[in-house]
Amino acid sequence: MQYETILIERKPEGYAVITLNRPDKLNALNIQLLVELRSAISDIAGDTGIRGVIITGSGEKAFAAGADIAELHELDGTTGSGASERGQIVFLMIERLGKPVIAAVNGFALGGGCELAMACHIRLVSDRAKFGQPEVNLGLIPGFGGTQRLTRLVGAARSAEYNLTGDMIDAATAERIGLANHVYPAAELMERAQEMMIKILSKGPVAVEKTLRAVVTAVDAAIEDGLAYEAQLFGECCGTSDMKEGTKAFLEKRAAQFTGR
Ligand code: COA
Repeated sequence: MQYETILIERKPEGYAVITLNRPDKLNALNIQLLVELRSAISDIAGDTGIRGVIITGSGEKAFAAGADIAELHELDGTTGSGASERGQIVFLMIERLGKPVIAAVNGFALGGGCELAMACHIRLVSDRAKFGQPEVNLGLIPGFGGTQRLTRLVGAARSAEYNLTGDMIDAATAERIGLANHVYPAAELMERAQEMMIKILSKGPVAVEKTLRAVVTAVDAAIEDGLAYEAQLFGECCGTSDMKEGTKAFLEKRAAQFTGR
């Protein structure tokens, strides 16, 4: 599929960079962009040559300034829920990809942009980043997961405050409350994101995938279910040659050579 609203770059180290590419509209997530993002994520899910994804925004100002407000304006009581679900599905696909997804948040991450960043597993952000769920200013509520994921990430009281006031959250505050993993100067952001991705991809691939599945599951599972799932995945790792190699390499005081099996 030829994409018009996103750019995809395959890196030789085995990951992809997806750039949201509507800079004149601050990368607002219109229907076309969501359709293209869904298709790209679906392709990446089945592509064994791509083991991780970095998502960022084009231009200096924005990661994504939200769902496209011109399109929102056309929704009504009949079409609204479907529009919300269309975005939710794409973001759930990202969260459950089974490959690490890092959001490199290079500017505004508002509304759907904040929701997209929250569906990613790790958020590295520039010192210019600004998060927020300003839907309430539009007579709306977040529709792509903002009420659910912000609450899980920062707790009910902070989520209520940000969702109800629509206030923006600067990078330092985002880091302090656990919405951002790390803040970097804007010029360093992509380099830091790529470094982290390459570090993750140097680990045993099977262990990376299973770790991610266990962590994503932990957000919603009862502790007994989460622990049972962890034990199952731990056992599966023990059956891999990567686990034999990783432990043997440690004992022999050398670097492990993982094969993904
Ligand atoms: N949907 C559609 N278009 C958007 C948009 C959105 N969410 N956010 C920005 N744009 C467009 C603007 O309409 C403008 O287009 P134009 O040049 O054709 O007029 C362009 O992007 C640049 O935005 P502008 O508002 O001029 O930039 P700014 O630097 O003055 O302000 C923001 C930046 C982020 C504060 C402001 O754009 C904004 O509040 N955007 C909406 C945020 C929002 O409510 N998101 C939640 C949607 S659910």
